[in-house]
Amino acid sequence: MTRPRILTGDTPTGRLHLGHLVGSLENRVRLQDDHECYFLIANVHAFTTRAEHPHDIRRDTIEIVRDYLAVGIDPARSTLVLQSEVRAIPELTFLLAMLLPFQRVMRNPTLKAELADKQLDQHSFGFPLYTVGQCADILAFRAHLVPVGEDQAATIEMCREVARRFERLYGGAVFPIPDVLLGRVARLPGTDGVNKMSKSLGNAIFLSDTRAEIHRKMRALRTGRSSMTTPGDPENALFQYARAFMPDAHRVRELADRYARGDHIGDGAIKAEVADAIDVALAPMRERRAIYDGPRGEAMIVELLHAHARHANATADETLASVKAAMHLDLRPVPAVAHLDAAREAIAAAPSG
Ligand code: TRP
Repeated sequence: MTRPRILTGDTPTGRLHLGHLVGSLENRVRLQDDHECYFLIANVHAFTTRAEHPHDIRRDTIEIVRDYLAVGIDPARSTLVLQSEVRAIPELTFLLAMLLPFQRVMRNPTLKAELADKQLDQHSFGFPLYTVGQCADILAFRAHLVPVGEDQAATIEMCREVARRFERLYGGAVFPIPDVLLGRVARLPGTDGVNKMSKSLGNAIFLSDTRAEIHRKMRALRTGRSSMTTPGDPENALFQYARAFMPDAHRVRELADRYARGDHIGDGAIKAEVADAIDVALAPMRERRAIYDGPRGEAMIVELLHAHARHANATADETLASVKAAMHLDLRPVPAVAHLDAAREAIAAAPSG
């Protein structure tokens, strides 16, 4: 029996953080048991905004694989996909780009939000194209399920649309319509207490942070509370972390009740308790990460990515062959083969002269 397929991934723009963990990484680790998993490092997409920094992209690519392996993605069971090694992806991107109206791509809310970002007002032509590329990433592997954070859901919807359109135009039953799988926490706030956790906003706790860094960042977390007797908001970032990372839900409720009453419980004490819980969650990752440390670890990662690329290409090449056949690009009309053979036989059998 074949297992359902998963494809998801990340653009290497920096280290992964707690938001990634609860948004998608936890799901990935769990799903490895009964799914055929492909985890893609979108290093080509990284060039959409950082084409002049190839060395940084290379470094971040290695770093993200360290994060994957640390978090528990198992290279013996799951396939790591280095996007730049899979030749079927850009080919498929080009073909899918013909099936999506330009305005449809530009209406994608994820893309619109990114384009509205001031830093991107000089964006490359390739920037909006990355969303079509993301559809190709998913469809090249004929994924059934795409575990992502909420921010990616709009692009997955576009992927579903293009897959349906392909089937309507060309048939061939090439692509399953992929479902999105959201994490247990849709939006984890950063340590500024307001914005979504994000590396670029400087409000992130990274999976690779040390115990001391976690405690320092938690101490600096904004709660806006002035004293131990001021009632606090049990929905603030501190309590969202408590609910996300403390295993004892009863303890969290007890703390939240007292906090809401201003019952002589200081932010500092709660922060330390939550920081400990985060540290416990990240400690096993530190151990696994150590295996892939330094230049030797880097060499192992590079070798792993190239080995996995062979398997990734086998899957994606198979998809591309079906795509080209369905689109009649390969000039071999599949249903006509039997018919041609029959015609040839008829010609051969016909009495001559
Ligand atoms: N755009 C995604 C991000 O920046 C990364 C990505 C690329 C991706 N291709 C994908 C995610 C395919 C899911 C499926 O996080």
